[in-house]
Amino acid sequence: MYNGNQVKQLQQHTEELIVFQKHDEDAKDNIDILKNVLRFHEYRYYVMNDPLLTDFEYDQLYKLLENTEKLHPELVTKDSPTQRVGSSLNQSFPTVQHLVPMLSLENSYNEDDLIDWDRKARELTGLTEVEYCIEPKFDGASISLIYEDDVFTRGATRGDGVHGEDVTNNMKQIRSIPLTAKFSEYGIQQIEIRGEVMMSKASFKHYNDMLAEQNLPPLANPRNAASGSLRIKDPKEVARRRLEAFLYNISYYHLETDDKFPKELMSHSGCLELLWNCGFRSPQKEKVVVKGIDAVIKHCHEYELKRDDLPYEIDGMVIKVNNVELQEIMGMTTHHPRWAMAFKFKARQASSKLRAVEFQVGRTGAITPVAKIDPVPIGGVTVGSISLFNEDVIKEKDLMIGDTVLVERAGDVIPYIVRSNAELRTGSEQPISFPKHCPVCESKLMKEEGEAVWRCVNIECPAQVVERMIHFVSKDAMDIKSFGEANVRKFYEKGWLKDIPGIYNLPFEEIGKLEGFGQKSIDKLKDAIEASKQQPLNRLIFALGIRYVGETTAKTLANAVHHLLDFASMSEEQLQQMEDVGVKVANSIHLFFSNEQNIQMLKQLEQLGLKMTNEKKSSSTDNTLHGQTFLFTGTMNKLKRSEAEAMVEEHGGKLLSGVSSKLNYLVVGEDAGSKLEKAKKINTIRIISEDEFLMLIDSNYN
Ligand code: IVH
Repeated sequence: MYNGNQVKQLQQHTEELIVFQKHDEDAKDNIDILKNVLRFHEYRYYVMNDPLLTDFEYDQLYKLLENTEKLHPELVTKDSPTQRVGSSLNQSFPTVQHLVPMLSLENSYNEDDLIDWDRKARELTGLTEVEYCIEPKFDGASISLIYEDDVFTRGATRGDGVHGEDVTNNMKQIRSIPLTAKFSEYGIQQIEIRGEVMMSKASFKHYNDMLAEQNLPPLANPRNAASGSLRIKDPKEVARRRLEAFLYNISYYHLETDDKFPKELMSHSGCLELLWNCGFRSPQKEKVVVKGIDAVIKHCHEYELKRDDLPYEIDGMVIKVNNVELQEIMGMTTHHPRWAMAFKFKARQASSKLRAVEFQVGRTGAITPVAKIDPVPIGGVTVGSISLFNEDVIKEKDLMIGDTVLVERAGDVIPYIVRSNAELRTGSEQPISFPKHCPVCESKLMKEEGEAVWRCVNIECPAQVVERMIHFVSKDAMDIKSFGEANVRKFYEKGWLKDIPGIYNLPFEEIGKLEGFGQKSIDKLKDAIEASKQQPLNRLIFALGIRYVGETTAKTLANAVHHLLDFASMSEEQLQQMEDVGVKVANSIHLFFSNEQNIQMLKQLEQLGLKMTNEKKSSSTDNTLHGQTFLFTGTMNKLKRSEAEAMVEEHGGKLLSGVSSKLNYLVVGEDAGSKLEKAKKINTIRIISEDEFLMLIDSNYN
């Protein structure tokens, strides 16, 4: 896409712009360069997965463009990087007709199916051996994009294959879909391309963690997440979901003249290369071209073993006759092309019987229905309990006790019920009735407007009190080892533990009389309780179980104050100034700190010796990394790139944007690319993992 000279020039422009950046007026004369520089870095980040700038540097340049365009609105062009983020809501999605109907694929499940298909391919083409191109079968939502005169003009969902929904605005939020692409260099005036919108496993996890922090039901799998995301009314929300697009097929093109025919269009692998060169994330690197079906079978089996290591979900391989002329000879049925075949990987689904639904009360009073099924092994684990999240899920899936249900568990994703099979009903199935009263304290359940979750609003409800304490001592919260759920329940039942401060006032003499509590285990428990008093503020905040405040928000909050009780004097507006704190979260924090009972509890905890201050804030800047330079590459598991970068700066270190002899540490995450290779060649650079980086920082983080 960019040749060596262009890269050099763009890097030089980048450096100049970073120096200039405070002068919006200077940027005005260089606005085209600035746009090109931003497009280049988007490509490095979103298509190549190998950024050259830190998030911070990119944001600075982006803001410079935004400011310059604000001052000179006449300079805003349709393809400016700022034009992705539409502010207006999509009213509805008009129906549009695809230029060429979007066909489906024929499926094969075993070697015999493939051998059969190859035989037909040889018969139809008259060849003794056919050349095939093999690529992953991306498990997302299909899309079709149109570019005219190099400009992205329309993006549509698959719909019924003939008509889809026009979701252009939403697709503009996907950074791997370029707003302009140099098809004209191939003499192409209009083109329709096909692909798949995907949510990577990492983004999916990140998104579900965010939902969990807000007590919302998680999205079932990355495929549903991607397809649901395309039809969201608010494009900003689409942007937040970090979608990606793989483009794998050219379904239509119109050339500018008849004189020149680009050779790339003569083969499928050439088309993938053309798309890659035009800036798309085609499976250019993933594809292989082989001759004969034996090589196809071998490759499909080998790739299946890699499935769990890929950063995104695939559910099989797609095998395509590589030569486009031969594709035309083979033609298509009304349903699928004869020149392509999907090879589906082993299913990660199983059928079972739904025996009962239990209703659990969470620490915020949320009532979660949990399906009890006949245990079935899926993907290496036995599944017997499955969360149904809320009443709407039961209704949407039309579930009844006694139903045969299809259960799916893909990779690390928590198992979920895909659907019930109504055809197998015998008439003895029973409807699931959602309780009207709390199954523990019997208070009337309530549901807030616009929410799907029923709640027990009695904060004294024993189930909630116990759940709050279980959460408080848990590993991710105060990490009081050897306490655990069982002891919380036991001590509560005995009447020795009534509330959180009670954890620090346990009657150990009485406990010592219980069976299974020798002096050794008592000492261990005492030590763990004592040690928890030193846990950093972010853990204490998370441990309090404030609604919508998960681990990430707790860290933001801890960094914002000197003392925990500072929150008691903060307004909702002040709280909303913080990163990731929206209206709902701010309201919940405010409610928590306006409650006198909670304030008393915190004062008690402080008297008991728990740490309520943020040491980082109170002490002068920590300079442990002074003089050291850092660069991050690849995907990290525990930290967001921006968080890790902020940590470096907080500790007095400096961030570099590229590998050079000035670099001291390269922190390497998953799927690290060329930076790692480059760094290996420079002896003085220390290459460390994310965990080693965290140890180096040894901060409040853990
Ligand atoms: S080719 C006419 N290639 O799988 C060619 N499809 O189950 C049609 N899919 O509707 C598609 N990865 O949405 C093709 N590498 C790939 C694919 C792929 C995923 C989807 C596509 C199709 C569905 C059929």
